Amino acid sequence: MLATLDPQTKAFRDDVLAGLCAPIPAIPARWLYDRRGSELFDEITRLKSYYPTQTETGLLRDIMPQVAAHVPKGCAVIEFGAGSATKTPILLEAIAPAAYVPVDISGDYLEHSARELQHRFPRLEVIPVIADFARPFSLPGGMEHVPKLGFFPGSTIGNFVPWSATDLLRQFRALLGPGAQLLIGMDRVKPVERLLAAYDEPEGVTAEFNLNLLNRINRELDGDIPLDAFRHEARWNDILSRIEMHLVATRDVTFSISGRDFHFAAGSSIHTENSHKYPPRGGRILLLAGGWTPTHEWSDAKDDFAEILAVAEPERFAP
Ligand code: AVJ
Repeated sequence: MLATLDPQTKAFRDDVLAGLCAPIPAIPARWLYDRRGSELFDEITRLKSYYPTQTETGLLRDIMPQVAAHVPKGCAVIEFGAGSATKTPILLEAIAPAAYVPVDISGDYLEHSARELQHRFPRLEVIPVIADFARPFSLPGGMEHVPKLGFFPGSTIGNFVPWSATDLLRQFRALLGPGAQLLIGMDRVKPVERLLAAYDEPEGVTAEFNLNLLNRINRELDGDIPLDAFRHEARWNDILSRIEMHLVATRDVTFSISGRDFHFAAGSSIHTENSHKYPPRGGRILLLAGGWTPTHEWSDAKDDFAEILAVAEPERFAP
């Protein structure tokens, strides 16, 4: 059994088996995004109640002339994630970089989106890198002396607990080097009703997105989890300033995954995703802790979503 699993499936299995045995059962959020999960997330971004995507897209359009004024000509844009067909072109059009380097773990998706962007920007050098951006990797050769702009939109940073978010930011800094800039999107704290509505809407797409994880476990890890024994729940954790997604057992349930048995009592849950929300000073402190000094910050009129430009200042010996 073990030898027949590809590395990705093995990592999935290890995470699921360990996660379900943990004192607080949890599965890392990245496993939500298989092909079906990515389709469902795409559908989420088009929901009226899911404000982050529309708000950030509008914000990026509005601020781009200003961003362009603060970014050197002929820089290289390194995007952490494969890039969105709507947000990425807004940046590329405005700053006309010399190169665009999207970094994503999913080779298929990356090739596809890189090809589309290349088609849209024929004179741009597009160099996709297949890598897990949360782990150390190297940039393509020949970029040593090109000014760099990291791009990390979508509030993806919110998926990481602050401890790992700091590690991630420090790693971006190590990768891009002193003097580099970072344009990062962060979702703001707002009234709980709006937050909950964005993660548990009447259409039920987010519920399907969350429950799809159980489908994926059943399919890829030889599981027999009855899907009707779990329901989607979005919770606001105020002390940790985050939306949490859980799968809550609707009754006592027993099932097996890869030959291992599990029992969940009615009302117990599997924690599947965090989405941290940052107030202005909180977001800037996070960046500073990760080695990035904020230089400019923009948000939409309702202050629902923020875009921050930061710089990796060279280390100083004294304040
Ligand atoms: C892709 C992590 C930014 O946290 O808002 C949306 C994922 N999960 N609805 C978010 C998500 C449920 C999304 N991020």
